[in-house]
Amino acid sequence: MRLDRFVCKSTELTKSEAIECIHSGEVVVNGVSVCDEATQVHENNDITWKGSLLKPRPFRHILMNKPSGTVCSNVDEVYPSLFNHLAIERKSELHIAGRLDADTTGLVLITDDGRWSFNITHPDKKCSKVYRVGLSRALREGVADEFATGIQLQGEQNLTHPAELEVITSKEVLLTITEGKFHQVKRMFAAVGNRVVSLHREKIGEVTLDVRSGEWRYLSPSEVQFFTTE
Ligand code: URA
Repeated sequence: MRLDRFVCKSTELTKSEAIECIHSGEVVVNGVSVCDEATQVHENNDITWKGSLLKPRPFRHILMNKPSGTVCSNVDEVYPSLFNHLAIERKSELHIAGRLDADTTGLVLITDDGRWSFNITHPDKKCSKVYRVGLSRALREGVADEFATGIQLQGEQNLTHPAELEVITSKEVLLTITEGKFHQVKRMFAAVGNRVVSLHREKIGEVTLDVRSGEWRYLSPSEVQFFTTE
């Protein structure tokens, strides 16, 4: 991680305060004063500030059930931020691993661990996301096969990755995808002549939503481990 981030994660300094300390030569990495805040450091490096050894706080990994009418952003926009439901400190350090639209509900994972969220969001990692989808029209025959082959979305060069469609009723399905393109689920159904009227994310990888709308909890160590790579 960058040195300024390491300093922030081990002190109560803001980013600009941390950079000021680094520029003034107060931060020493493995016995050498380092003045470039972008220097990459590791947790096991010996890093001191004004002679005190710095130890970064552990990363945080949170699950929330996003209510409808909230935005996956750190600040309020047209709709209020879902972070208003999170009563913890240093919320500005957190980001969302896979954003949902304002009208979509369900499982969001929130963290300050960039490498961990990369494993959830990068399409090459093929991390599955399960959505319960309500449709405006009865599903026509053959759509499950089209989704399994891949859908050509408007404005995209490649087909979507194979997706699994489980029919619950003619107008309700469970869809599993491994990417997170902009409005992907809505665009996939639009491409086969249907329209999404409700969208709720139930599961990411092996993590299943188990709290009520607007509630949150920390992930268990085994849930965190599921998305961790060395
Ligand atoms: N696909 C969408 O279209 N919207 C979401 O919020 C998530 C996936």
